[in-house]
Amino acid sequence: MIHQKRRQELLSRLPEDAVVIVSTNSEQKRNSDVSYPFRPDSNFWYLTGFEEPDAIAVFSKNNYTMYLRPKDQTKEIWNGVRLGVDLAPKTLLVDKAFDIDVFFENIDSLIKKDSIVYFDAPGNSVWKDNSSTNAHNHKIDSLYESVLQPLNPHISEMRLIKDKNEIQSMQEAADLAAKAHLNAMKSSRPGLYEHNIASGFDSMFRNENSEHAYPPIVASGENACVLHYTENNKELKDGDLILIDAGCEINGYASDITRTFPINGKFNVAQREIYNIVLEAQKSAIASIKPGASSNRPHEIACEIIKNGLIKLGIMGSHGELTKFYMHNTGHWLGLDVHDVGSKLIDDNFREFKSGMVTTVEPGIYIRKDDKIESKYWGIGIRIEDDVLVTESGNHILSEKAVKDIDAIENLMS
Ligand code: GLY
Ligand code: MN
Ligand code: MN
Repeated sequence: MIHQKRRQELLSRLPEDAVVIVSTNSEQKRNSDVSYPFRPDSNFWYLTGFEEPDAIAVFSKNNYTMYLRPKDQTKEIWNGVRLGVDLAPKTLLVDKAFDIDVFFENIDSLIKKDSIVYFDAPGNSVWKDNSSTNAHNHKIDSLYESVLQPLNPHISEMRLIKDKNEIQSMQEAADLAAKAHLNAMKSSRPGLYEHNIASGFDSMFRNENSEHAYPPIVASGENACVLHYTENNKELKDGDLILIDAGCEINGYASDITRTFPINGKFNVAQREIYNIVLEAQKSAIASIKPGASSNRPHEIACEIIKNGLIKLGIMGSHGELTKFYMHNTGHWLGLDVHDVGSKLIDDNFREFKSGMVTTVEPGIYIRKDDKIESKYWGIGIRIEDDVLVTESGNHILSEKAVKDIDAIENLMS
């Protein structure tokens, strides 16, 4: 029902005779005949609720057609049950359903209609995989080149504002990930390995029938200065910090949380100095989030506080480049995708926050070895990341259960 409402809402934003084509992915090969676990395309899932690979939905004001994998006894014995063409109308509320091959055979008739087709050039593997096996490449090329209007911006605007149920799923995803971060703090000690800490997240997510929303970063010591570190296999050293960026999916909706804490449970003086700058930047950035505020305000505030903090400690000169120590943005939209859809700009201006948006707030400081900087700061990498819902009256931190004040972390770990 919710998917039907979303399709109607989308069509109401488009011209009367608009036709929408939206597709999901194919399974992706990992190696040999082994596939990665399948995850539906977010736009397709949002509009149809259908979770199988290899499907294309076509809908307009008067018609909703699904092209999907046909029943196949042998493939179903090996790989699991398929909905199939016959059951699709009742289950998915489509008017008609066909074998996906029929779509590729009939592309010509779809594009000859006197309608405006909303469709995005194939980001999805369903186009490559099915078109190559069906030898309909030339037709698909003509589809891309003909009557098309971009679809993604319209879906993105819808996905940017979360409804009550979506917020509920995101709260559950944040609660579960927060619990796993607290567990990591409690189980950390020198001599363990990063993968021992990572396995706690795997286990706690899977236990709730959830999974990682993205490859987790479990980075001890100077590994934290590698922004996308995912090796997660080094020994935890006494006196080092560990930065963990890990979140999970509930009903397809992501959480994205980062905490940084001392492996042995006690921050040293230099770590404390840097941590408190990041924490102040993060809290002040969050405090600026409310309806009507610029969506770039959190970043401006975080940059200002980090810059002043680093100058005060003598780590950066007053004319230094902040990007040497803080080189990423302070947040991104969060939803079905961890880096969720929705532009930050409208006509070159930063858009305003609105109730129902969810953004991360994730400032950091990363200090590589540098002879111009006191050695006690070398290798410190700190990020603190929360998931923040914009509410009517301000904001709510979905991930607030993951403690982040120094005293709270040290108490928990003692
Ligand atoms: N985990 C990805 C990010 O923080 O953006
Ligand atoms: Mn993150
Ligand atoms: Mn993030």
